[in-house]
Formats: sequence, structure tokens, C-alpha cells
Amino acid sequence: MKSLVVYYSRSNITKRLAEDIAGKTGADIEEIVPKVNYQGKLGFARGGKHALSEKIIDIEETKFNPEEYDVVYIGAPVWAGKIANPTLTYIKRNEGKLNNVKFFMTAGSKDYEKGFRQLEKYSITPIKTFGLTTKQVKKGDYSLDSFLE
Ligand SMILES: Cc1cc2nc3c(=O)[nH]c(=O)nc-3n(C[C@H](O)[C@H](O)[C@H](O)COP(=O)(O)O)c2cc1C
Repeated sequence: MKSLVVYYSRSNITKRLAEDIAGKTGADIEEIVPKVNYQGKLGFARGGKHALSEKIIDIEETKFNPEEYDVVYIGAPVWAGKIANPTLTYIKRNEGKLNNVKFFMTAGSKDYEKGFRQLEKYSITPIKTFGLTTKQVKKGDYSLDSFLE
């Protein structure tokens, strides 16, 4: 089974999870790089604003073609109760090319449930979803078993 992990992470939490998934599945892994600056205080505010309006932004070209994979793991942090814009843009850019999506999110609270619901709008029905709080990721307080099987 050929798997790809694609993710965006502003402060390395979702990245940690993405790397864990790739390590356990032997998947190719790709980071989504926005051409928008979301770092620092200003970047935080920009992120919240962009998330609320579900803005499609500029992102760097990605290397792997998701159509060539049996399973595509897609990851994002929650921003303002939504999927962070770099990941949202990736989804939009690859509409119709994403089969067997397993979607994972990290959030300060349990807001990832809102992010999962947002996927419907973008015609994605993930075969599995997995949400963790920032704290759980930091502590390693989770099991990937049922998400990966
Ligand atoms: C702009 C912005 C908005 C956020 N909004 C929420 C939110 O609405 N609900 C929530 O639970 N966490 C929110 N968070 C917290 C992140 O989802 C959380 O810290 C996440 O684990 C960060 O992942 P990352 O390090 O991969 O970027 C927000 C963070 C940022 C930067």
C-alpha cells in the first residue's frame, strides 16, 4: 500500500504527528509551505482572519502527486475552528485527485471536530479522521493504531 502524508504546521505540533504517521507507515511525506507569513503575532492574527473567510492562499508547489497513492494522510492545525488555510488550499488545489483520505488535526481544544465537518464543503469524505489536542501530542498521549489500520 502506497501512502502519502501531507501536512501544514505552524508550530511543529501537527508536524510531530505527521512524522509519527510517516514513520509508522513508511509513507512519503510532504510539508505544505505557504507563501504567506503566518509567524509571529501579526501572522497569528492573519491566520485567524484567513481561516474565518476560508481564504485560498498561495502555497509552494508540492512535489508528490496524490493521485499516485492508495492512501493520502492530510494534516492541519485548527485555526478559528477551521482547517488552517495552507492545508485548505492544498485540498482545493487537488480537488478530484484525493482518494482514500485520512484526515488528522491538532487543536488547543477539541475544535478539530469542527474542522472535520468543514471537509464536507470541499467534497472530501475521509475514510478516517483523527484529532488530538496540542497537549496530547506534546505528551505522546495517543495511539495511532486504529487510524493507521
Ligand atoms: C491563528 C490560530 C488560530 C487558532 N485557533 C484555534 C481554535 O479556534 N481552536 C483551537 O482549539 N485551537 C486553535 N489554535 C491552536 C492550534 O490549533 C494548536 O495549537 C495546534 O496544535 C497548532 O498546531 P501546529 O503547531 O501544527 O501549527 C489556533 C492557532 C492559531 C495559530
